[in-house]
Amino acid sequence: MKSLKRLLDEKGHGVFSVAPEDTVFQALNLMARHDIGALLVQEGGRPVGVFSERDYARKVALHGKASRDTPIREVMSDKVIYVTLAQSVEDCMAVMTNRRIRHLPVLGEGGEVAGFLSIGDLVKETISEQQFIIEQLEHYITH
Ligand SMILES: NC(=O)c1ccc[n+]([C@@H]2O[C@H](COP(=O)([O-])OP(=O)(O)OC[C@H]3O[C@@H](n4cnc5c(N)ncnc54)[C@H](O)[C@@H]3O)[C@@H](O)[C@H]2O)c1
Repeated sequence: MKSLKRLLDEKGHGVFSVAPEDTVFQALNLMARHDIGALLVQEGGRPVGVFSERDYARKVALHGKASRDTPIREVMSDKVIYVTLAQSVEDCMAVMTNRRIRHLPVLGEGGEVAGFLSIGDLVKETISEQQFIIEQLEHYITH
């Protein structure tokens, strides 16, 4: 299966992020503008959290907090679960399943942020890999 580096080369290495002091309202705006469901929270170039639609639903909306007055720091998931470029698509799927998360920052060898993957990216890659295998087998059977 494709390496995470190749997957990110195709998808793009850009990562949408906010700072811990930004407000939830700013984060929601950024997510809506780019049609995405999660943001990396970075401080001094270092990943310090992830803020997702689920964090919003459970830690902001459910508690009646005002998104314009709530800093991301208060509601982000602050244990950053990540993968590295050396890991595989299968590793990412396993981490997402076991940790019940849908987004994963990808870090490079030096700990720098190298990309951001969602469950949809992995499903898409898995389907296209399986499609490739099916086509190979069909070719083998009919030739
Ligand atoms: N066909 C495709 O290429 C493809 C790929 C991924 C998701 N999707 C679809 O999009 C919908 C939602 O996808 P999802 O639940 O996987 O999550 P999502 O909406 O958060 O992610 C959508 C895309 O945006 C990217 N993305 C999200 N947050 C990002 C960030 N902070 N920085 C950089 N990139 C970021 C993801 O990697 C993914 O490619 C689903 O319907 C899914 O099927 C389609």
